[in-house]
Amino acid sequence: MTERSTCNVVLKKCRATAVRFSGHLCGISRPSTPILSLRFFASWRLCGYSFISAFQRSPFSRTKPVLAAVLLFVLIAATTQHPEPVQLKIPAGWPAPTYDFSKNPLTKEGIALGRKLFYDPILSVDSIVSCSSCHLSYTAFTHVDHAVSHGIRDRIGTRNSPALMNLAWSGLLMWDGAVNHLDVQALAPIAHPDEMGEDIAHVVEKLRRSGRYPGLFYDAFGDATITGERMLKALSQFELTLISANSKYDRAQAGLETFTDQEASGYRIFKAHCIACHRPPLFTTGAFANNGLAVDTVYHDLGRMKITGDPTDSLKFKIPTLRNVEFSFPYMHDGRFKSLRQVIDHYAEGLVQGRTLAPELRDGVTLSKNERTDLVAFLLTLSDREFCFNPDHAFPRE
Ligand code: HEC
Ligand code: HEC
Repeated sequence: MTERSTCNVVLKKCRATAVRFSGHLCGISRPSTPILSLRFFASWRLCGYSFISAFQRSPFSRTKPVLAAVLLFVLIAATTQHPEPVQLKIPAGWPAPTYDFSKNPLTKEGIALGRKLFYDPILSVDSIVSCSSCHLSYTAFTHVDHAVSHGIRDRIGTRNSPALMNLAWSGLLMWDGAVNHLDVQALAPIAHPDEMGEDIAHVVEKLRRSGRYPGLFYDAFGDATITGERMLKALSQFELTLISANSKYDRAQAGLETFTDQEASGYRIFKAHCIACHRPPLFTTGAFANNGLAVDTVYHDLGRMKITGDPTDSLKFKIPTLRNVEFSFPYMHDGRFKSLRQVIDHYAEGLVQGRTLAPELRDGVTLSKNERTDLVAFLLTLSDREFCFNPDHAFPRE
């Protein structure tokens, strides 16, 4: 074989591999003509595939591959995109996310910036409270020891901090749906006088003055301009990566693990009484419902009606996910229940037959003591320890 034809063979092999890698593993779209383009080299690098090793296996002479490899390495370095795009891994069998990523494409640097902001008390007026003060990663991003939120200067809010996960699939946010997009959600806690008590313009000012942030915004957005919009988008990027989909329930669905008899019995009860609202795989429909709680005596919170003004929405609250519910106590919008057993006792014994009570609950839920225990056992299969202890979600140590 001449050197030229050997080279052609190698290139063909490279092309095939590049197409395979770029098309399937990385989720990068396959180009119509399989030319060995710069984009392929870049996507190869993304895949972590060693280009050099392909050459090492080729029948080239010893010196030429080294030279070629160095050249290619330089090319790869020059063509790798910064910020580096990140493709969100959608769990198998899940619906398409509702979040429009085309308006805020995820990048490695954007996510890192969002994570830094999420853990930084610079967002609050007293520089003590960060998002993570009320949304702690080890407890599925909620505030475990408080019924209602605890913000700046020890101020107490009126609602329980919800667990944060699978936000790429969420519709309206907050217990009453007051916020309609993740990219603006953070404005609410930043400005809330009982949460962070800050002014967004002042936060932007503080970030501009800080030593660290201009560089991080440069990495994430290609220039060092700090704006409120960029800050909010970066926060969203980090929050969108918080995907919980590896619980025992998920593994049982995939046939990798089996439920105990008690969990299987709990699952049957769940399907009979709970699944209409807490629908898998998200364990919520994202809708609002009155699940029969008595109106709370302290805040008289009417939920969704506060936003819509519609009396038929009175006492309707957002149906929360039940994923990681083992960690997200206390429960309900005001944190009134401390244990899952109390929640189930509420459904079995405490339903208040109000005007707006959900039709699914009007006939009541009859559960024996054993059935209640089985139902708790099933709810515990929704715990995803990998999610709660994922080092990529925790405080970013440098
Ligand atoms: C002082 C406690 C506190 C702080 C600080 C806080 N939150 Fe929250 N978070 C809450 C509470 C309480 C709610 C529910 C509010 C409501 O329903 O009115 C909430 C709701 C949310 C939601 C909506 C979740 C859903 O499923 O509807 C998101 C997202 C969120 N917070 C993200 C953040 C981010 C990002 C920050 C930092 C910028 C932050 N939070 C700071 C307490 C807090
Ligand atoms: C009609 C819809 C509906 C049905 C059916 C339903 N739920 Fe709920 N669930 C809700 C709503 C709405 C909330 C939040 C209510 C609030 O905070 O005011 C909730 C809250 C919860 C919570 C608290 C979660 C948290 O993070 O605070 C748990 C646990 C729960 N439900 C379990 C169940 C179980 C178990 C069943 C079956 C016996 C069930 N639910 C049936 C609508 C429903």
